[in-house]
Amino acid sequence: MEIIKVANAEEGGKKAFELIKEGMNNGAKVLGLATGSTPETLYKEMTTSNLDFTEMTSVNLDEYVGLGGDDDQSYRYFMNDQLFNKKPFKDTYVPNGKAADLAAECKHYESIIDSNPIDIQILGIGQNGHIGFNEPGTPLDSLTHVVELTESTINANKRNFEKVEDVPTRAVSMGIGSIMKGKKMILMAYGEAKADAIKGMIDGPVSVDLPASALQNHSDVVVIVDEAAASKL
Ligand code: GLP
Repeated sequence: MEIIKVANAEEGGKKAFELIKEGMNNGAKVLGLATGSTPETLYKEMTTSNLDFTEMTSVNLDEYVGLGGDDDQSYRYFMNDQLFNKKPFKDTYVPNGKAADLAAECKHYESIIDSNPIDIQILGIGQNGHIGFNEPGTPLDSLTHVVELTESTINANKRNFEKVEDVPTRAVSMGIGSIMKGKKMILMAYGEAKADAIKGMIDGPVSVDLPASALQNHSDVVVIVDEAAASKL
């Protein structure tokens, strides 16, 4: 893994943007995208740049079960608001959290990943080391699946909802195996709350106990961290 230390999230967003730009210059056509507060500075760089994304495809990591694109807490809404409404892409994929048959949706989404191989995968990380919504205990070869969110993830994400009861308890997420299919990984983490997860991901054993540790088995991973997130390395 290549570790890049930055002063803050703004600088981290700029670094990640440079890597995406370089990737696109080298022919990248598909971006794997993430939600959460971490990639916001990257999306700001992208929307304020003069780069053209109209030939690009995006595939997002996950979506809450039960929320549709009109719901402002959904990840589809977040992506439209932060990026796609400002920088149009050719195609944008986010799992359908309102699918009547969720098992069929998971299969369908995995086939989307296979027909649109991800050149650059953007990742954040949860405080318990989750990537996408792959909670500790998720098999490292898992494909797109329905996830029961842990209490810690629900609590960490409740800031975006009016009350904790409003946070969905399930999500559709790319699996760790689906994520690992991507050619290049860029994982960003800022703040002290991520320090343990970053330490475990880089220096700990590869284990289902810390899903992001699977990235040790990927040949092209760039980790962008601020001082606080890197403080336990
Ligand atoms: C959610 C998302 C993850 C994200 C994580 C961290 O659980 N499913 O993709 O990495 O939150 O969020 P944040 O960047 O807001 O800390």
